[in-house]
Amino acid sequence: MKRTSPLHEPQDVPEDLAPTSLRLAVLEGLLDSPKHLPSAYLYDARGSALFERICELPEYYPTRTELAILQTHAGDMATCIGPRAILVEPGSGAGVKTALLLERLLEPAAYVPVEISPTALQASVRAMATRFAHLPIHPLQADFTQAFTLPHALRRGDAGRAEAEIDGRVVFFFPGSTIGNFDPQHAQALLTRWRLLGGADAGLLIGVDLRKSAAVLQAAYDDAQGVTAAFNRNLLVRANREFAADFAPDSFDHLARYDSVQGRIEMHLRSREAQVVHIASHTLGFEAGETIHTENSYKYTLDGFAALAALAGWRLDAQWTDPLRRFGVLAMRAA
Ligand code: AVI
Repeated sequence: MKRTSPLHEPQDVPEDLAPTSLRLAVLEGLLDSPKHLPSAYLYDARGSALFERICELPEYYPTRTELAILQTHAGDMATCIGPRAILVEPGSGAGVKTALLLERLLEPAAYVPVEISPTALQASVRAMATRFAHLPIHPLQADFTQAFTLPHALRRGDAGRAEAEIDGRVVFFFPGSTIGNFDPQHAQALLTRWRLLGGADAGLLIGVDLRKSAAVLQAAYDDAQGVTAAFNRNLLVRANREFAADFAPDSFDHLARYDSVQGRIEMHLRSREAQVVHIASHTLGFEAGETIHTENSYKYTLDGFAALAALAGWRLDAQWTDPLRRFGVLAMRAA
């Protein structure tokens, strides 16, 4: 039976209620065949906290591998980027990697964190303002997966920096292999938009998870402690809260599988049994074993990624990797 909130309970609006477009994507995905959910829906407050725990897991190599690459090569990266960078960070995070880079950059002109959540945006401004007291910070509240414009003082067209009030070179910093969560077509569209936004001398420093053995990938996305499973199931917990749905999260198994042809890890939630779930005014039927596809995480070769970025108007300046070649950081410039 559909679960409803008793009327006497206060109907609190959760602080991190998803924006309308994301809520629509949730419903559309669940009504589609095969069923899917937008991976952006993974990141409510609990999902973000679970993701932070994933980053610390022994099996989840990307975070610490990329950090080690940055620690070893931040100086070279800064040289490659050059002086007076306006560092634009779509989806700014806890700021550890950003701080590493900013410390090495030569006279950075400004830092522009781009975040959809005002709370996360404030947190990243606060973190950087304390650490880099003299650095101008221009926070931008925007959904970086969609088109956005830079703050006025930083805008530039293909005429280059002449139009802008703040002199400097726009450099997008996109670590964490977040680009892997977009399918290649959308990744190309995203990189094309940033290339146009940054103007003729734009730069890009991007972290990319590399192709490797299925066993390593499988373990990274299906850890022994079950943190990734909880992260995945949290989608259903969130849907229950936001849509008054009646998913039984424990009746879905977490599934991570590597598709070596597409070069991507897929996450799914697999129904253990035939069941019926109510969400909004809809009734969803699940067969036993039926899955909801919840995330793709694309893995690239260094050449493969450079080729994709080239289609978006970027050319490779330099690249760095770890001794096991698990992860790559690429510095690119407008072609
Ligand atoms: C955020 N993103 C790069 C992570 C990844 O590896 O694709 C999300 C994640 N999903 C499961 N574990 C981590």
